[in-house]
This record gives sequence, C-alpha cells and structure tokens, in this order.
Amino acid sequence: MVGLGPKTPRSRRGSLTDLPQSLSSQIERLEELFTVSGEKLKEITNHFVSELEKGLREENSTIPMNATWCMEFPDGNETGTFLALDMGGTNLRVCEVTLTKEKGEFDIIQSKYRMPEELKTGTADELWGYVADCLQQFIEYHHGQEQTEQLPLGFTFSYPATQEYIDHGILQRWTKGFDIDGVEGKDVVPPFEAALKERGVPIKLTALVNDTTGTMIASAYTDPLMRIGCIFGTGCNAAYMENCGSIPKLAHMNLDPDLPMAINCEYGAFDSEHKVLPRTPYDIIIDKESPRPDQQAFEKMIAGLYLGEIFRLVLLDLHQKPECGIFKGQDVSKLKKAYSLDSGFLAAIEEDPFENLSETQDLFQNTLSIACTKPELELIRRLAELIGTRAARLSACGVAAICKKKGWTTCHVGADGSVFNKYPHFKVRGAEALKEILDWPEDKGKGKGDPVELFPAEDGSGVGAALIAALTLKRVDVGQNAGIRDPEAMKLAAQAVRAFNSKK
Ligand code: BGC
Repeated sequence: MVGLGPKTPRSRRGSLTDLPQSLSSQIERLEELFTVSGEKLKEITNHFVSELEKGLREENSTIPMNATWCMEFPDGNETGTFLALDMGGTNLRVCEVTLTKEKGEFDIIQSKYRMPEELKTGTADELWGYVADCLQQFIEYHHGQEQTEQLPLGFTFSYPATQEYIDHGILQRWTKGFDIDGVEGKDVVPPFEAALKERGVPIKLTALVNDTTGTMIASAYTDPLMRIGCIFGTGCNAAYMENCGSIPKLAHMNLDPDLPMAINCEYGAFDSEHKVLPRTPYDIIIDKESPRPDQQAFEKMIAGLYLGEIFRLVLLDLHQKPECGIFKGQDVSKLKKAYSLDSGFLAAIEEDPFENLSETQDLFQNTLSIACTKPELELIRRLAELIGTRAARLSACGVAAICKKKGWTTCHVGADGSVFNKYPHFKVRGAEALKEILDWPEDKGKGKGDPVELFPAEDGSGVGAALIAALTLKRVDVGQNAGIRDPEAMKLAAQAVRAFNSKK
C-alpha cells in the first residue's frame, strides 16, 4: 500500500542549478551514463529470464544455475545440534546451532575470526589450514579436547560450485577478489577434510551450502511464503526452489519431476558476454583490472565490493579531464589507490543529512586529504546517488527474472548482505524498480505490502546451513539418497547427531 512503506528518497538534483557550466555538463553526462530507464530494466529482465532457462538446460552456460541437492523446505520441526561454518570475504564465522523442539526456533553460539587479507591471494594449503584451525579452536573451546564423536557441519561456501552431491563442490571460479591458485576446477571438500583430519578435528561435512540457499532455507523456516533467497553484499546472487522436471540438464538422472531442487543461480555472472547491461567506461576498467576479467559482469555493476571503486574511478577521471578538473591543484594520491573506497564510504555520502554536505566534506578531508568546494560536493553527492540507484535498480532485474521465469506474481524474498542491510535507500529503490519491471498498478509498490516483497533474512549461513545439514540427514534416514555421495557414511552421521543430542 502506498504510504506504508518508506518514501522514495528525494534526490539532490534540485540543488544542482547554480553549478559552473563545466561541472553541470559533467553531471548531465554521468546521469546519462548511470540512469537505467524502466524500459531498459524490462529488456534486461527479459534477457535474464532466457539466460536462467538456458542455465537449467545446458552445462557451462553464462548463468550456471547450480543444482544444490537441497531438496526441500524446512517445516519448522527440524531438531538437533549442528555446526555451521561461513567463509565470508571479511570474516570466518563458526556457529553451533541447536534447532529446538519449539517449531521454527533455535539457539546459537558463535565465534568470529578475522579472515586475513593475504589469505585471499595465498595458497590453498594456507586457506584450508586456517579454516581448520578456527574450527579446531571453536570445538576445543566449547566441547573440550575430549570431543571425539564427529559433529555434523553445514559449510557455507559462497562461491560458484558444481555439486554432483550435497557434500561436494567443484569450484567453478573464484569471485569477490579471491584469487587462490590450485582451487578452481577442483572439489574443495577433500582438501578441507584433509586439513581437519591432520589436526584431528572431529567433524563430518554434511552439506556444502551457498549463502543464497542458506538464506532462502533459513527464511523459509519461519515464513512459508518464502520462495527466493538473495544476497546483496560484497557479491550478489540468488537461489530459489525449482522442480526437478524443469531442469533439463539433470534429465539423465531420472529424478522424480515433482521433487524440489534448490538452484543456486550464480547470477552475478549474468551478461558476461556483454549483450544487454549498460556498462559505462568505468565498469569496463573495473572488469579489465579485476583478477577475473569477463566474469561476473552483473555483480561488478551492483555488488558492494565494486560500488566504491566505480565512484573512485569516476572522480579520478573528472580530476584528470582538463575541461572539468575537479580538486584542482590538490594532492589526489590517496584517491589514486585502487579499491581504497568501499561501499560504506558511498553510503556515508548518501546519508549526509546536511544541506551544505558538511559531513561529506569532512569525509573527503579525513579519508582522502582533499578539500572540496561546494559545487564539487554537489557533484559528489549526485554521483553517489547515481551509482547507488543504478545498483538497486539493476539488482531488481535478477529477482524479477526469477519471478517471471516461475510465473510467480506474489512471493516473499529473504535478503541479506551489507548492501541490502546498510546501504541507504537500497530497498526502496529496488522496490520501485520491481514495480516498474513487473507492471504493478500505481497503488502497489514502494515497499511494504508489495506483491513481491523483500524481507531481511534470518541468519542464512548459520541457521540456514544447519537446517540444510539437518534436512540432508533426515532425507538419508528415509532412504532419499539423490545427491548423497555416501549414504552409509551420512547415516552414521545422522546416528551421531542423535547420540550427541541424547547426551545434552
Ligand atoms: C558468489 C556467490 C555468492 C554471492 C554472494 C558471489 O560472488 O559467486 O556464490 O552467493 O557472491 O555472496
């Protein structure tokens, strides 16, 4: 209903009238480059739908549409204690999640470990060694050294992986700036398990989970209308529940066509052949200079890792353009450092409540040692608005495409990630774009009560991963072994969970 949701943010376009001609013509140019019309959003979404379908049909298509072997929604009655590990970009989180007897409830204890920046470009041994060390510390701290029975683990590994089984995953490619040699193209589970074994850590990996699938399942634990799980964070992606009969590339497995199958779309890769997304020269530089050029084209225009970098590249370009020359005569060496501005920097600019943009001025002074003039501040604010709005509007295309593909006119979407949770106006701008793409009537849209509505998700990489581990063991118990590599070993794991819980 109009009026209940948050209001569409007021843009500062009106404050731009007194700018010098050189700056106002640059702003016009940027507006042209970064504005995506409703018509264009529809065109992108239509192409998106056909790419999602292609991914379900063919191996190695641009959007991988990975089958995850998570094959049901929780009903809220799952029980048991599970470990969950989340290997995110900034932190590594280990949780112990107890799904309690009360429907849809859980207890959680967790520890966070910093993910050292060097690990992202180090060696595979260092990575798995570090992850295993953290798990070992966690278990020793919470269970003491006498814990010998294997504890079941849901491992949230938020990178594209081909899964023939739920406890297996061949890394298709690193994303989000990770670049560790010798991991792509291989199953990540054996080296992870080897590192655990070496240290004698008593863990049985029960499910390898993408953060989007975890988000969808955790959100569905308490909301039966949940259909899609999305991440708008350092990277971007979504998962939804398909039925096996609509996944032609799995036809050879003769699965019951009505069985559900969670699909990790990996749609950050959308349009990596550059057919439809309106890339600016700045997007092209980001792509060329990234560790994986020509990959993750969609993600590189909208995800948190890149928003600050797009902004930095534009400002540097405007500084270097003789006809514009912002920050004249100033030392811009800090601005020259790649990836020195994150999406939080952009968020802070968009959040500056003052008419004279004094917080933005301080931010530039303190972070970049640049003193901005009033017109420059206006340009900076408008640029942040343009980049943030484009990200939210393009993000809506992925959600809309899944809905269109499935013929869903109403559903709930569980969403998580730093951009979704923290970037100002992201939700409202995204909702407005969904309304334009899906042609909702005027009295629908702009937030609360929309036919397709995004909700902040339950903890996907903790509770979601634990639930998926629980659902897997439950499936094995009743002999549904599709996507289970070693059903006997899984049965033992299920028994261990029961034994562990009976002692608690
Ligand atoms: C990864 C996905 C992940 C997304 C959000 C992307 O870079 O490829 O697996 O779901 O980031 O974390």
